[in-house]
Amino acid sequence: MRLLVGGLGLGIAALATSLWFVWHSQQQLMARQAEPSAATPSSADSSSTPSETPTENLLGHLPYDAAPPEELQPIVPDGSIQLRQAAAEQFAAMEAAAQADGVSLIPISGFRTLEEQNSLFFDVKAQRGQEARQRAEVSAPPGYSEHHTGYAVDIGDRNAPSADLSPDFEKTEAFKWLEANAPYYSFELSFPKDNPQGVSYEPWHWRFVGDRHSLETFYKARALTQTSPDLETEAETETPDPETEGSNP
Ligand code: DAL
Ligand code: ZN
Repeated sequence: MRLLVGGLGLGIAALATSLWFVWHSQQQLMARQAEPSAATPSSADSSSTPSETPTENLLGHLPYDAAPPEELQPIVPDGSIQLRQAAAEQFAAMEAAAQADGVSLIPISGFRTLEEQNSLFFDVKAQRGQEARQRAEVSAPPGYSEHHTGYAVDIGDRNAPSADLSPDFEKTEAFKWLEANAPYYSFELSFPKDNPQGVSYEPWHWRFVGDRHSLETFYKARALTQTSPDLETEAETETPDPETEGSNP
């Protein structure tokens, strides 16, 4: 009888111990789920890992996709220069307003394909015997030109053709008019003096930022800017050469 009672007691003790272990393990698991420890990164931490932080730029230029052909619209009668529809409409309105003020704007270049930018960058670079970095001071490599977006336009003054694509364009009536009025049509200068990308001053090159897509295109790309120290130093110390600078934006 004593043996039976003793065995029963031992069995109850063993069962109680097992139940306590199960309960204790569950409590520990719940505690871990409620309060992530330092060794368990939170979801906020893992969303900002370095591999997801974009840093891409090429010789100071930012990557852009080419506009789809069906979204382009001509801005000259022969159809040779095109912009995306919203930019084209605002450019036409701006051109008319300038004309009413006695200023004659003339579009020189708008949308460019990757192939066009490819030859503009590499063929001209070879013709001039330039290094890539030198070429990139005045021309974007293919895939990195604002002209791919269909929102960028090079503008001249019909009454001052010698200033086309030259820093001297800033002395023209057209530039002065644009400086005062372009924001009313949602155009802004892409490469002012001492721009953070280290690209040469381009008073003739304007971009449309008048809708969500255009604004995101340029300002999200700008977040990628990480100008190399070399390019920054060169931009600060070198005097631009109008001859080289003007001819191939
Ligand atoms: N002309 C400027 C650098 C561009 O093509 O984006
Ligand atoms: Zn341009």
